[in-house]
Amino acid sequence: MRVLLAGGAGYIGAHTAVALLESGHEVVLLDDLSGTQAVAAERVETITGKAAPLVVGNAADDEVVEAVFAEHGPIDAIVHLAAFKAVGESTQKPLDYYANNLDSTFALLRVGLAHGIRSFVFSSTGTVYSDPADLPFTEDSTTSVDLSNPYSKSKRMNEVILADVARVNPDVNVTILRYFNPVGAHPSGLIGEDPTGIPNNLMPYVSRVAIGTLDRIGVFGDDYDTPDGTGLRDYIHVVDLAEGHVVALEQAQPGLAVYNLGTGVPVSVLQLIASFEAAVGRELPKEFLPRRAGDVAATYCDPAKAAAELGWRTRLTIDDASRDYWNWQSRNPRGYSA
Ligand code: UD1
Repeated sequence: MRVLLAGGAGYIGAHTAVALLESGHEVVLLDDLSGTQAVAAERVETITGKAAPLVVGNAADDEVVEAVFAEHGPIDAIVHLAAFKAVGESTQKPLDYYANNLDSTFALLRVGLAHGIRSFVFSSTGTVYSDPADLPFTEDSTTSVDLSNPYSKSKRMNEVILADVARVNPDVNVTILRYFNPVGAHPSGLIGEDPTGIPNNLMPYVSRVAIGTLDRIGVFGDDYDTPDGTGLRDYIHVVDLAEGHVVALEQAQPGLAVYNLGTGVPVSVLQLIASFEAAVGRELPKEFLPRRAGDVAATYCDPAKAAAELGWRTRLTIDDASRDYWNWQSRNPRGYSA
């Protein structure tokens, strides 16, 4: 099938583009390059030896999306990964986050449905689950729109909107993928995560310490009610995550479906750092800091539904992710910037 990947030059987008191309699909990437660079699309082509045309534009603009369909149609499916994702920034710029993260869905749906797309896959987050008593989270666990930050709220709002859209478009496959914590990079070292400024997330921060652009890792809290006192997360290799999008598209059925994409294995902050240190081959400077506002002690999923219905399972470990992230970082010390 031919797939419009909105946000296709981003971290998850580029890996998903590779996975789709390697499974025999065609892709068109739409990206405003607000969080990545055009070279990511060229690298997708280098890895796969296939075309990954990039349209530079905003997925929240109906005219831009119309132009993609006019130039690159017919398009069978849209995978929507075009969103602002910095949690801290979202608390400072709520309007920007709500506008961008909702308008992109509206424009892609309006134009896509008018052109008869069969499938719409939406990138959501495991942070929509709100009750720690439900751990490990299944797709039926309690969700809330009353979350700790506008980024997460915008994701849950999108889910609510998509459920209504699916109801009145019963022939369309609408799939919501709730990601846990994406880490790692393509094993080629050609594509990977390239955060702007100081990274918020753990693995990119650790990697910057390893490459020497940041001094030391700050571990946010050592007094959680967890085995080693640090936070537990479900870190999923981005290559496994990308494969989840391929199977979601290939197996999609009419109506709404929701899947967790995670490993199901809780990993602590200290375990993740130790894994990265093993990949780098030396210990990294670190210090314990107070808990970060808005963080929860633990979040990890039960990925059984995706296994049962899509036949999807993660294959890669956090050690694979650490090795591949470090390979990408060492080959590209400044990310996509030359
Ligand atoms: C965050 C977002 C989530 C988003 C995800 C993307 C929230 C509250 N969090 O998840 O929406 O989908 O990123 O991967 O909405 N840590 C440190 N030091 C650091 C950075 C992180 O100790 O410098 C710890 C955190 O306290 C946490 C763990 O590492 O226990 C993971 O943090 P992070 O990578 O930022 O992901 P989340 O907060 O889980």
